[in-house]
Amino acid sequence: MTRDHASAAHGLTSALDIEHVRNDFPVLNQQIHGKPLAYLDNAATTQKPHHVIDAIKYYYEHDNANVHRGVHQLSERATHAYEGAREKVRKFINASSTREIVFVRGATEAINLVAGSYGQLTVRAGDRIVVSEMEHHSNIVPWQLLCERTGAALRVIPMNDKGELILDGLNEIIDDRTRLVAVSHVSNSLGTVNPVNRIIETAHAKGVPVLLDGAQATAHISVDVQALDVDFYVFSAHKMYGPTGIGALYAKEKLLRDMPPYQGGGDMISMVTFDKTLYNELPFRFEAGTPHIAGAIGLGAAIDYLTSIGLDRIARHEHELLQYATEKALTIPDLRIVGTAQHKVSILSFLLEGIHPHDIGTILDHQGIAIRTGHHCAMPVMTHFGVAATARASFAIYNTYQEIDRLFDALNEVRKVFR
Ligand code: ALA
Repeated sequence: MTRDHASAAHGLTSALDIEHVRNDFPVLNQQIHGKPLAYLDNAATTQKPHHVIDAIKYYYEHDNANVHRGVHQLSERATHAYEGAREKVRKFINASSTREIVFVRGATEAINLVAGSYGQLTVRAGDRIVVSEMEHHSNIVPWQLLCERTGAALRVIPMNDKGELILDGLNEIIDDRTRLVAVSHVSNSLGTVNPVNRIIETAHAKGVPVLLDGAQATAHISVDVQALDVDFYVFSAHKMYGPTGIGALYAKEKLLRDMPPYQGGGDMISMVTFDKTLYNELPFRFEAGTPHIAGAIGLGAAIDYLTSIGLDRIARHEHELLQYATEKALTIPDLRIVGTAQHKVSILSFLLEGIHPHDIGTILDHQGIAIRTGHHCAMPVMTHFGVAATARASFAIYNTYQEIDRLFDALNEVRKVFR
């Protein structure tokens, strides 16, 4: 009996009305290779609900114009919608002001902005940036580029074989030459939820600011930047049911105020002559050029969608799915779970002994099941575990126990093919 059937038989209520939620996502209603799509690649990108698609469509059909520039009706409406989205982001992460919310292309651009701007302001030869062993490349490479430009160096917080950060030595890793600590809130390759409060407290005790990469967190965990007292927080809309190409950088106003512009162009200025340019006020100083207006509106709609369901209910549902999948995984003798931290979001990375993850992914695709295989843009994590790649199933708001049953039935087929 599957867990869905078991729940129904026992009259248990799920945290979510899954059929209702699934109907919100048009893409889910299709067949792949003649089988119903089971989309289990949500850590790479989530699907989009009608609410988001409709908000973008409505904007283009009714309000499309440039923002902050026109006195005409459409421009006023577009500006109102765009700035309304900024207010939704502010509220979603509980920033104290919209001046602290910068729209960017995504978490990657946000980190590059901080490395380029804050890094240029504060980092000198001999300084250090602290990252962790479980970072996505987007939270490693921008800092390496900064180090190359300045003569600074990276220091790395190690992790254990469960995929948890080892914080015993953090007091020594963060020293008087550390200019920033940049770590993921949640690991994309392992699912680990990091003890960010402790990291922030330790860094702040030494006067060092902290950037959290929230790309894998915001769809699963409610984030309060003031309660965290984090200095920079970055995330992407497309991993939380919003569109691609848009995300947000949160930065404390007192830091943002001193940071030099990241890119030059229209909208980020207040006055330009050939001798001198005066920059616009926050946050516009960091938004050169026509922004992704429709994207920001889509992000706002995704926030409305998430909050209307409630992150607590979403977290409960996804936790149940992860627990169910993990229990099933543990019954397969030649399956190794990569990432067994105590605190995880709904990401299950695994290996089947002797079978390349790409082969697993290809066979699963023929069963209509979408997972990601590869290094997940986290090669140092793969190095730690002595592998080149893993298979990764990642669950979201619309996934079901039945889809997990299908995943494991298909994995058993894979094992038969290769034995
Ligand atoms: N960072 C995305 C992932 O983890 C693309 O798959």
